[in-house]
Amino acid sequence: MSAPVLECHDLTRHHPGGVQALRGVSLRVWPGDFVAVVGPSGSGKSTLLQLIGALDRPTAGEVVLAGRDLARLSDRALSRLRAETIGFVFQQFHLSPLMTACDNVAEGLLYSGVRHGERRRRAAAALARLGLEDRLHHRPQALSGGERQRVAIARALMGEPAVILADEPTGNLDSVNGQLVVEILRELTADGTAVVVVTHDHELAARMGRRIELRDGLVVHEAGSGRQ
Ligand SMILES: Nc1ncnc2c1ncn2[C@@H]1O[C@H](COP(=O)(O)OP(=O)(O)OP(=O)(O)O)[C@@H](O)[C@H]1O
Ligand SMILES: [Mg+2]
Repeated sequence: MSAPVLECHDLTRHHPGGVQALRGVSLRVWPGDFVAVVGPSGSGKSTLLQLIGALDRPTAGEVVLAGRDLARLSDRALSRLRAETIGFVFQQFHLSPLMTACDNVAEGLLYSGVRHGERRRRAAAALARLGLEDRLHHRPQALSGGERQRVAIARALMGEPAVILADEPTGNLDSVNGQLVVEILRELTADGTAVVVVTHDHELAARMGRRIELRDGLVVHEAGSGRQ
């Protein structure tokens, strides 16, 4: 069996003011895993995603991403590893309203050193992969919510990440589009990409390979194997 692409050991995250957002979470994710993180509001789901996505540092504990111990990396090295390894997808899409779908997606490689023309070519290919080849020149306000989220997923794919982290990616979508987005994320696991999705939606979580339930900053339940 291959090595995990992501490992956390006994992660804690305390915020100023005494909030213990995570109180000792351990987790292993392998290439191709499709993992749902569920739990009530305030249970630490987004905090966990930010720690494993190297957007935040833990109070204690260890995150090993693609074989690298994040605590040993400078902020600069962390940024580079993040850009090379992680694709983020958020509930609010975070698309620039002034740019076309193609340019929004091309932004996913802005700091990669890839030249503008090549970025746009790859962006068009990523959009076509998600069925948006006839939406390249639309701005976000001319797209439906489901289309916007597919644009955001295309942007997340541009760096060919080993891990996609999605925080409530269906939170602003109706159930049909929500299911479509989950199916797209599932398809990404076929080539070995690991996908971790935070969701409030237990029906969607039930369609994913593995479920991890958080409560008060602790894993209280785990089910499934992750493999599709
Ligand atoms: N920057 C911060 N400063 C202080 N407390 C924080 C900070 N970020 C999160 N918290 C607290 O940490 C706890 C966990 O928050 P987190 O956002 O991880 O929860 P969540 O499970 O994602 O909730 P939701 O489902 O509402 O998004 C909460 O009590 C929250 O108020
Ligand atoms: Mg959250």
